[in-house]
Amino acid sequence: MILVRLVLKKRFLDIQYNLPFGFSPCGMGGMLYPNGEILVAKACEKFGIPYILSTMSICSIEQVAEATSAPFWFQLYVMRDKSFVENAIMRAKEANCSVLVLTLDLPVLAQRHQDIRNGLSAPPKFNLKHVWQMIQKPKWCFRMLTTKNRSFGNILGHAKGVDDLSSIVAWANAQFDPSLSWEYVNWVRKLWKGPLILKGILDEKDAVIAEKYDINGIIVSNHGGRQLDGTLSSILALKKITEKLNKKLNIFFDGGIRSGHDIVKALSLGAKGVFMGRPYLYGLGAQGQNGVERLIEVLIKELTTALVLCGETNINNLSRENLY
Ligand SMILES: Cc1cc2nc3c(=O)[nH]c(=O)nc-3n(C[C@H](O)[C@H](O)[C@H](O)COP(=O)(O)O)c2cc1C
Repeated sequence: MILVRLVLKKRFLDIQYNLPFGFSPCGMGGMLYPNGEILVAKACEKFGIPYILSTMSICSIEQVAEATSAPFWFQLYVMRDKSFVENAIMRAKEANCSVLVLTLDLPVLAQRHQDIRNGLSAPPKFNLKHVWQMIQKPKWCFRMLTTKNRSFGNILGHAKGVDDLSSIVAWANAQFDPSLSWEYVNWVRKLWKGPLILKGILDEKDAVIAEKYDINGIIVSNHGGRQLDGTLSSILALKKITEKLNKKLNIFFDGGIRSGHDIVKALSLGAKGVFMGRPYLYGLGAQGQNGVERLIEVLIKELTTALVLCGETNINNLSRENLY
């Protein structure tokens, strides 16, 4: 039997990762499972993959840093409250975060009908349906009672005038800045000297402009389809953007990755690395850290199978030819 050594390691932003994928920033992970973000960060540390902690996480930057030793990435929104942003960047530096991700595709919050219907707000609007659901999930209720992390850890106590859940909503609503401009990127660049990534670029014209700024990469993303119904799929955008840009920027990708095969497709289209959101949230909700680790194992298995069946042994050799 011939044993083939497979190379799955990928180097980007001058950091060596064991695998070519990581996890996108998702707010409120700690509501799916107590201390959720800490558990996801631990799973990522174990497998040597990047985890992007969201501004809207339940566990704070400091809590995640204290529970782990591998540096994680931190995601920021473009916000009007500049003193909050300055402070968040300083906290990320102190927590030894390795990369800052600035999300650009939320100048206003989309009208998310399901969130409205389900009463997903801060504070949450409970109705009889929720009570019935909670009765059916006693383990979740018990676990949530055992943690003190049930709010927005990066915001509560860090934004001026925000000291309870209801004041968060008023503060967050005042933060959206529809006048989003490239100047904001320059301003953040001055505050953060490490690798800086712009998340939420779909239009190749924006990608070309981004290339002129002092940044290290972009994440081609449509926010998991949560912002604009009917928008371009991010995989189509990836194809157009990698055709257009020269090799200066690291181009990352997220949106709709559900298997190792999908990872191979995005890498073949020129993505440096691939991120995903919902898959790890499902794993976390189902089994906590164990569920996230199980997901990573399944992805590795699928990724290696797809790689070998594409006739490659090194993930770094994938190209468009592998798609056909
Ligand atoms: C529940 C949920 C919360 C999210 N919260 C954030 C966030 O706080 N910041 C952000 O930049 N993107 C956020 N996103 C978007 C993800 O980072 C990512 O772009 C998207 O989930 C990728 O698509 P996928 O879920 O199909 O993998 C969120 C997505 C979901 C599903």
